[in-house]
Amino acid sequence: MFFPEYRARRTRRTDTLRRMVRENFLRIDDLIYPMFSAFGENIRKEIPSMPGIYQQSIEHIVAEAKEVHELGIPAVILFGIPEEKDPLGQDAYCETGIIQETVRAIKAAVPELLVITDVCMCEYTDHGHCGVIKDGDVDNDETLKLLTAEALSHARAGADLIAPSDMMDGRVAAIREVLDANQFSHIPVMSYAVKYASAYYGPFRDAADSTPQFGDRRSYQMDPPNRLEALREAELDVQECADFLMVKPALAYLDILRDLKERFNLPLVAYNVSGEYSMVKAAAAKGWIDGDRVMMETLVGMKRAGADLIITYHAKEAARLLQS
Ligand code: PBG
Ligand code: ZN
Repeated sequence: MFFPEYRARRTRRTDTLRRMVRENFLRIDDLIYPMFSAFGENIRKEIPSMPGIYQQSIEHIVAEAKEVHELGIPAVILFGIPEEKDPLGQDAYCETGIIQETVRAIKAAVPELLVITDVCMCEYTDHGHCGVIKDGDVDNDETLKLLTAEALSHARAGADLIAPSDMMDGRVAAIREVLDANQFSHIPVMSYAVKYASAYYGPFRDAADSTPQFGDRRSYQMDPPNRLEALREAELDVQECADFLMVKPALAYLDILRDLKERFNLPLVAYNVSGEYSMVKAAAAKGWIDGDRVMMETLVGMKRAGADLIITYHAKEAARLLQS
């Protein structure tokens, strides 16, 4: 197959031909939409760095959950902004905590919508770290006790799927054990298996009000240059019976998505994080890029890299384009 007998352009000549040889697809079923649930009433506050994304009180969350379901998006992932924060993040595992109330409200109004809860402590602690602080750092094993309590209380409230994002060692096994011991053996765990200490989370921390009050997250989240460590992290979570593996962020880590796809046979999730969303929105607002096209190209790129599912703030816009 050499030029001039072989010409690669032949199969790109018309839209019909391009459709016929297309290799990867973004589907509405691939999308998971993140939402920020805030304590209070009639709150709907747009996050300045994330146009179109809001901190909302429960009645608005429920209304948006209905819209998401009507668009055909199968799932949402919830983050909570509690009324009060404290060193042990008590709202995270309280029966009447912000997430527990939100899950109950969504499941009552839109039972077919799959509700995923993010399990972590940083939205609930006054210091903003993802666990219990001891001697100036997050204590792994003490944090596991809180995370398992949080996961169990989410399941009790009706969560369909539990997604731990804290990066403590041993948390998938600990959560699996507590779920199984409490009649929740049918609830899957989606592990944020490979989560890097990333500057791309900046806008999210405004949205969730979860910026660490001292230091950073580098003693528990991964160092961006590392690849083999990502494979070790994923391997551990597979051994601990995770049902889904996640790579986060997505855009600067497409190689890691491909690596995990080739080595593991669990469904693979890409988290198209807040900073990735904000960059597209900001450049589009300036008229520097075509926002819709960059969004679709980015999302299908994640599929091509190996993602089966994508958590994305673009989910509603992408679903509308996929419907039309
Ligand atoms: C909480 C959590 C974070 C994100 C998801 N879960 C922030 C962080 O670790 O600081 C980031 C999501 C995003 O940027 O969209 N641990
Ligand atoms: Zn956290």
